[in-house]
Amino acid sequence: MTDPGAAAGPDVSVSPNAEPEDADVEATLRPRRLTEFIGQPKVREQLDLVLRGAQLRGDPPDHVLLSGPPGLGKTSLAMIIAAELGAALRITSGPALERAGDLAAMLSNLMPGDVLFIDEIHRVARPAEEMLYLAMEDFRVDVVVGKGPGATSIPLDIAPFTLVGATTRAGALTGPLRDRFGFTAHMEFYEPAELELVLARAGGILGVDLRSDGAEEIAHRSRGTPRIANRLLRRVRDYAEVRADGTVTRQVAREALAVYDVDELGLDRLDRAVLTALVRSFGGGPVGVSTLAVAVGEEPATVEEVCEPYLVRAGMLARTPRGRVATAGAWRHLRLEPPPDAVGERAEPPPTLFGT
Ligand SMILES: Nc1ncnc2c1ncn2[C@@H]1O[C@H](COP(=O)(O)OP(=O)(O)O)[C@@H](O)[C@H]1O
Ligand SMILES: [Mg+2]
Repeated sequence: MTDPGAAAGPDVSVSPNAEPEDADVEATLRPRRLTEFIGQPKVREQLDLVLRGAQLRGDPPDHVLLSGPPGLGKTSLAMIIAAELGAALRITSGPALERAGDLAAMLSNLMPGDVLFIDEIHRVARPAEEMLYLAMEDFRVDVVVGKGPGATSIPLDIAPFTLVGATTRAGALTGPLRDRFGFTAHMEFYEPAELELVLARAGGILGVDLRSDGAEEIAHRSRGTPRIANRLLRRVRDYAEVRADGTVTRQVAREALAVYDVDELGLDRLDRAVLTALVRSFGGGPVGVSTLAVAVGEEPATVEEVCEPYLVRAGMLARTPRGRVATAGAWRHLRLEPPPDAVGERAEPPPTLFGT
């Protein structure tokens, strides 16, 4: 099993995955209610309607799927859903549900109206997944008792509940599982202005003297990801306290981020390693993701789920049917001259006869 979190690259200080050292701080910084949740206006509005509609009718809301890259607020939203409903939250994850029995135990302990959160739901093992279908649809599980020809299956009613699933790879979910969610929220990368709000909020909670130009600088280098913004803020605070007077200005943020190898686009060492391998070892591609992952000494899942989404969004990398391709922007970012046929390279305007 590959865990992008555990396999994070050498520069773990800015990996978008949660790490143990972060757990406490993350808990303090988590938004608790929908109104505290910054950005994602579409998701917030839609979710608000789903929750309120269900509350008006007095039913548990439809099952909710949260999909998007790491660090965008999926776990926070799952907790917010429970809080908004005043419901108890049970938390588990795909890798923890290896045997159907693990899931059956979890499901049969639910109380009416509980919210069950399954993180990394695309990694639920097949037998458990099939049990989940029935549970989601009919609030029932079939428990198999005994083995071989004498085995019988006993139907067991479970309490009506709301499943909240989170995934970094909605595409890896089977159709039947995806279809059983009444609402899917696609989390997008955050705009720098939204990340400035995230930073201002975190700075307030952590007691950091964060100036608006400092927040702006950090926001632009956070790869559209609140978790990274908050993590960079803590690293910049260290620098500000040790090497400056504690105030986080643009200048202090720049110096600090240079120390941590975070470039102007927020790309960290692993991102740059991927781009460099793509450009230098594979001539800009196309190259398969597994080959690329081997070249940088990473798990393909880490490259695919952690690095690529932002590289694509930043216009550095394109996914094509034949493999990954570096764009002209990627070559230039590495201070190299892109080949004339590089993706995203603007064709020279055709020469006109009369000039302009
Ligand atoms: N919309 C948001 N507003 C404020 N902070 C956020 C938001 N989304 C995420 N965060 C911050 O980022 C951290 C990581 O978010 P999390 O919900 O764990 O992301 P995911 O589960 O998608 O990886 C949270 O602890 C919180 O500090
Ligand atoms: Mg999470």
